[in-house]
Amino acid sequence: MANLKTSYLGLKLKNPLIAGSSGLTNSIDNIKELAKNGVGAIIIKSIFEEQINVETEYVIKNEEGDIKVLTQAPGTMLGRRVHDYAEAYAYIYDFARRNTLGKYLDFLREAKKAVDIPVIASVNCVSNNNWQAFSKKIEETGVDALELNIYILPSDWRRSIEDNENVYFDIIKEIRSYTNLPLSVKIGYYFSALAQSVQKLSKTGVKGIVLFNRPYNTDFDIEKIKVSSGSILSTETEYNHTLRWISILSGNVDCDLSASTGVHSWETFVKQLLAGATTVQIASVLYKNGFDIIPEILNKTASWMKKHNFENVDTFRGKLSMSKMENPAAIERVQFMKLYSEIE
Ligand SMILES: Cc1cc2nc3c(=O)[nH]c(=O)nc-3n(C[C@H](O)[C@H](O)[C@H](O)COP(=O)(O)O)c2cc1C
Repeated sequence: MANLKTSYLGLKLKNPLIAGSSGLTNSIDNIKELAKNGVGAIIIKSIFEEQINVETEYVIKNEEGDIKVLTQAPGTMLGRRVHDYAEAYAYIYDFARRNTLGKYLDFLREAKKAVDIPVIASVNCVSNNNWQAFSKKIEETGVDALELNIYILPSDWRRSIEDNENVYFDIIKEIRSYTNLPLSVKIGYYFSALAQSVQKLSKTGVKGIVLFNRPYNTDFDIEKIKVSSGSILSTETEYNHTLRWISILSGNVDCDLSASTGVHSWETFVKQLLAGATTVQIASVLYKNGFDIIPEILNKTASWMKKHNFENVDTFRGKLSMSKMENPAAIERVQFMKLYSEIE
């Protein structure tokens, strides 16, 4: 079989296919099965910043850098808009109590023991409020890296572009002062200057950036005339957006890029690598097709590599990256005009 070995976040992976964070990476049996089926690494289901903060005891650093243990009265740090609503707070508090931090740390330890591939912890966060010291505890479990899923929907009218974008940098800076774990940042689509922001993030010492998180999708129920939620699973046509940005950013950033969203087949896996992705994360296709899709993606990729005489992944990774173009939008504009004017 062709050599698919890859280095990601400074870790050695036997191949670039990663089981992305989801409900499927929340059980030891699944983690063992995912590893058995051949994934290169596993990202554990995220713990939420709110869960960490609602737990009563946490540690902070004061301005002099002294570490202090605080007993946190629930609700005192919940300054953000979503938490202004009693219902949201009650949900978060109850959720946190049912999913304790101790359980998460035990789970990480167990996951690490269960498989011999890299295990990456994950925290879903929206602010730089208090929770960061927990990253030290995550490091102590022996996991190989930490993925920060920074989920900011820039919908708060009170917050400027700078307010929203500074959060990413503040979180990374703070986390880096607590842990030496290799860090990756999983981001959403919403930046005012995505290319420049990702490039700046890549210079903060993070080892990888994951493009993109799948946001909660809003939908409407037109019979009940109510807001409802859109599909949580992606479809196989949703990979293009990630493909475009991996291709634009590859070669222009100082860290690894991991492609996420809409990869459902070996062909789209190969496309993301051609665009320049260091690794590719899958979630929805595991729910839809089961874990057999993993060997299928890997075997068919190996056959494709053999057919094209690519001995290892580095020989074709980034071959279709746009890194040599100064402004890919201009080229896209011409293609767009051509395509639209040809269709009658
Ligand atoms: C049921 C489900 C749960 C998820 N939970 C998490 C999570 O806890 N943390 C996270 O960073 N991403 C989570 N994700 C997002 C996936 O990791 C992934 O980024 C997204 O689904 C897009 O990839 P896909 O098209 O392969 O599904 C979840 C996805 C699904 C479908």
